Amino acid sequence: MKTDDNEKNVVWHHATVTRKRREAQNRHRSVILWFTGLSSAGKSTLAHALEEQLHQEGCRTFVFDGDNVRHGLCKDLGFSEADRHENIRRVGEMAKLFIETGVIALTAFISPFRTDREQVRRLVPEGDFIEVYCKCSLAVCEKRDPKGLYQRARSGEIKHFTGISSPYEIPENPELVVDTETLTLDESVQCVMTFLNEQKIVRFSELS
Ligand code: ADX
Repeated sequence: MKTDDNEKNVVWHHATVTRKRREAQNRHRSVILWFTGLSSAGKSTLAHALEEQLHQEGCRTFVFDGDNVRHGLCKDLGFSEADRHENIRRVGEMAKLFIETGVIALTAFISPFRTDREQVRRLVPEGDFIEVYCKCSLAVCEKRDPKGLYQRARSGEIKHFTGISSPYEIPENPELVVDTETLTLDESVQCVMTFLNEQKIVRFSELS
C-alpha cells in the first residue's frame, strides 16, 4: 500500500522497443478511445463493433469493458463515488500502459464524473485521450434496459444507480459526440472511423 518509498526507491526502466517503434510497426497511432455515457447508451456495443472493423483493417486493438473489468481487476469495487473514482483511476492507468504497447485502447465505462475523465486525460500526452460521448437520453436507456437494471434501480433494489440515484456528468468538451439514441450501430461506427481517419490516427487507405 505504501507509495512514498516507491517514488524514492523504485527506478523506471526504459524499454528499447519504444511506443514509437511499435506504432511504426503497426502503421497506426495508439490512442485511448474513451467511451462514456449512461448504462445502456451503447458504449460496449459501439466499442466492440468498432474494434471489429479496426481489426479487419489490420489495426491492433483491445476493448476494456466495465462489466468485464469489474469481474477481475476491479472486483473489489462497488458503485459508491469513491469506488467509481478508483475504478476509473485503475482503468486509466491500464489504458495508459496499453497505449505504450502501440494498440488502440477502447474503454467502455460509464465514468460518470468529469474529474475522473479529466484525470485520465492528463495521464497521457495531449491528443492521446479521445473522449467519445455516447449520447442517449435517460428515457431511452431506461426503455432499452437490456439487463433489467433500471427497473431494479427504480424499485430501490439497486442503490446508487447512474441516472436514477447517482449522477452522470455530461462531457463539456468531448472530442466526439455519437448520438447513439438515433444513429444505427453502423452509422455510429462510421462516425468514429471518420474521426480516426481525419485525425490521421489510422489511415485506412494505407493499410494492407
Ligand atoms: S463506472 O461508473 O464505475 O464507470 P462501470 O462502467 O464500471 O461504472 O460499470 C457499469 C456497469 O455496471 C453497468 O453497465 C451495469 O451493468 C452495472 N451496474 C451495476 N450496478 C450499477 C450501478 N449502481 N450504477 C451503474 N451501473 C451499475
